[in-house]
Amino acid sequence: MDIKRADDAISRRILAMSNRVDTLQNAGLYFYNQPVSELKGGSRVLINGREMGMYASYSYLGLVGHPKINAAAKKAVDQYGTGTHGVRSLAGTLTLHKDLEATIAHFKETEDAITYTSGYATNLTVISTLVARGDHVISDKLNHASIVDGCLMSGAKFVRFRHNDMEALEERLKQSMDGEARLVIADAVFSMDGDIIDLPRMVELCRKYNAWLMVDEAHSLGVLGETGRGIEEHFNMPGSIDIKMGTLSKTIPSVGGYVAGSAELVRFLRHASRAYIFSAAIPPAQAAAAKAAFEVILEEPWRVEKLRKNGLQFINGLRKRGFDTMMTETAIVPVLCGSDEMAFAVTRCAQADGLFVLPVVSPAVPPGLARLRATVTAAHETDEIEDAMDLIAKAGRKVGVLRP
Ligand SMILES: Cc1ncc(COP(=O)(O)O)c(C=O)c1O
Repeated sequence: MDIKRADDAISRRILAMSNRVDTLQNAGLYFYNQPVSELKGGSRVLINGREMGMYASYSYLGLVGHPKINAAAKKAVDQYGTGTHGVRSLAGTLTLHKDLEATIAHFKETEDAITYTSGYATNLTVISTLVARGDHVISDKLNHASIVDGCLMSGAKFVRFRHNDMEALEERLKQSMDGEARLVIADAVFSMDGDIIDLPRMVELCRKYNAWLMVDEAHSLGVLGETGRGIEEHFNMPGSIDIKMGTLSKTIPSVGGYVAGSAELVRFLRHASRAYIFSAAIPPAQAAAAKAAFEVILEEPWRVEKLRKNGLQFINGLRKRGFDTMMTETAIVPVLCGSDEMAFAVTRCAQADGLFVLPVVSPAVPPGLARLRATVTAAHETDEIEDAMDLIAKAGRKVGVLRP
């Protein structure tokens, strides 16, 4: 197919994206897909041959490159090789997978857990296995794309409620009473804004209206709660979420996704969810790394405390310098810039000064709310964070987001 000559919808879509990327690249405003070539302790990385401060990492506890986790991955390769023998239900299950699932269940204080090869696949498959035509799935408006896609794929009636607005959720629950089943889903910590879902009220409403509750802990695992166990620990509400979903690609420096819950739920998913039955297992090195990482979180509790301290320093320091950081309470810190162009310009200045931060623009966020989506981790030291905030403020003043 000659895309440039063709005039069908697929070609037009491809060309439109190509033109947008070209325009940004030509203006020096394309910041995505830059390769990291070396880890410099976690708080700094080598990108395009330049050492930069890393403020865009999801490795919240600074566990990428941890010696115990690296050693576990290497040992697994020596023992099992680099792949499995296929899908989990047939020959793909290794003792490593069973050990990892037991470790997750222990960490999340549930009866059992099941793993998949990505968090994205986990949301798609779990939601579309649990609900179907005739059911209702009720989702926070700012939930992650993988939740939205899972809801759409399920065929259930898909309704959304205003972000973190429990009155709006109750309205939706009342309207859904004609359905067969009700599933309510929310992120624990929202990936663009860094705020925390109102779990106590949500649990109360799910109980009142006999709805199942699923919470995506991609950004709360290792982040919330005194020992990093997540949102239930944060609110001191053990056992209140029916389906605790998470990813193994952020705080846990591996790849994969999981659901922790009752033994019956996990047994059902092992026999009914298509990403488990029809897709390959997590490779040995990644399963072993993930298991070791859960152990490290418990063995090195200072990391959770340091992340909390660093998060507070980053949020308060940016606010003091004049930035709007929205409602964040966690390590994800939106630095509001306004227009997409402003966010690109602030990023360009900050990156020129050696700070690896990235912009989030529309349609990922509403127009006018473009921002830097900055993160701190437990790998950062106090003075590094102060220096980084000074550079972000310098960029903000230069571009006009802050007053000179
Ligand atoms: C809230 C949330 N859920 C799910 C995912 C998908 O996880 P994974 O990267 O493991 O596919 C992400 C990743 O960005 C996320 O932020």
